[in-house]
Amino acid sequence: METLQDRYRAVADRHGVVWESVCAPGFEDRLKDLEKCLADQNVPHPIPREKANAYFEAAKSGEPFRVGTLSDLTVDLGKYSNAQHYDSYTFEQHLSWACLIAEQQRSKHRYACREYMHGEELFQIGGSVIPDFYQLNARIFQQTLWQLSTVNMIIPAELFFTCHSRRFFPVTTFMRPLEQDYLQEPDIGHDVAGHVSTFTIPVVAQLMQNHGLARNMIYQERDDALARTSDHKRRSEIERRGDELLLYAERIYWFTVEFGLVSQDQETRAYGAGILSSPGETRFSIDSNRPTRILIDPSSDRDLLRLATTDYLISEYQKTYFVIRQFDLLQSITPQRIVRLAKTAAKLPHFSWRDLVPGDRVLQVGESAVSTNEKYLRLAFHSLDTHCEQGDACLTRTAIRNLRIFAKNPNATAELSELLGSQIAPVPAGILDWFTPRDAAGEFTQETRPMSVGQGD
Ligand SMILES: [Fe+2]
Repeated sequence: METLQDRYRAVADRHGVVWESVCAPGFEDRLKDLEKCLADQNVPHPIPREKANAYFEAAKSGEPFRVGTLSDLTVDLGKYSNAQHYDSYTFEQHLSWACLIAEQQRSKHRYACREYMHGEELFQIGGSVIPDFYQLNARIFQQTLWQLSTVNMIIPAELFFTCHSRRFFPVTTFMRPLEQDYLQEPDIGHDVAGHVSTFTIPVVAQLMQNHGLARNMIYQERDDALARTSDHKRRSEIERRGDELLLYAERIYWFTVEFGLVSQDQETRAYGAGILSSPGETRFSIDSNRPTRILIDPSSDRDLLRLATTDYLISEYQKTYFVIRQFDLLQSITPQRIVRLAKTAAKLPHFSWRDLVPGDRVLQVGESAVSTNEKYLRLAFHSLDTHCEQGDACLTRTAIRNLRIFAKNPNATAELSELLGSQIAPVPAGILDWFTPRDAAGEFTQETRPMSVGQGD
């Protein structure tokens, strides 16, 4: 009869994991390693002695790691607060980490950009056991001034980006079930094995913080507006607008920090954490001819607006990836530009994750690519019970959102065309006449606000 140990050994073999290496260090060994790490002066940002001492004493007392305490900044995670109880991880959880890392390493060595691999080496991420956050947090701080804060679930985007503004990255503490490749909700495999190495790419780390600072600007403006009115309806509108602007800002984060590709040595390489935490998506994003790949210049307002106006789903591999030529170009994505383009996006019709837009520099046309009008046709003709293929949830909600904008502003397509510097086709004749009375009758009750990036994703 197969024992649990037989099963574990078979899983380890399948992923090329050395069985003996899946052995978590005990408390005393972790403390010794931490002491050595904290004393390291040969790093870009050595830890001041008083901070290091207090940090070490907390670890020594057995207090579980919660939020990094190596800078003068902190974050209040409220009900999302969590802690890493390192000794509570089971062997199966460590094995799950080891298998994921082994698979990731195979795909990362082939598909990750140089800078990302350098980050992995610096942070010593590729081990066979789940990292101890006391030590990992210290290493990250020494290299980048970023720190970790542990959370118990996906946190609201607003809090996620507040953390970013103070150089804290929220991480979960749970590990995905054995041999699971793609997760909709982030785990340590995504947050740590995927994200953490990107912090060592200085422009990506800065871009992450810039998103945090953009969040601060959006919510400061919201709070100022709220302070000027006590009208309930008006206050709700102001709050909704703040959340909406953050959503469009998040899309820039999504298509770069999470799912960005970079051209390197005449090849396409990945730097996005959402890609690199999934070995399957890593291969898919670069080698497959199924997704669309589009070259962008982040310093161009046209291309950044393209990102801010592009909706996506988080439930499957992406349909479109955006490729940058070099990392330096990300420097241009300042908090001010993020906010400005999010505000512009709020007024415009949007694209779905399948749309090919006139003016796009298309490197690869994916199998599910469609023209910008396809979403309206699918919405209308599928509803009329013809043989028209139904759109996915992203196409449907984008079509509904846009048709509502067109109903209010007949010039919306012309405005979008002008901002993108290319001619976007008007909505097919008759679609708006078909849509408007049905919408007024409440036929389209689908959620038109996409899910938020939130913590991790
Ligand atoms: Fe993520």
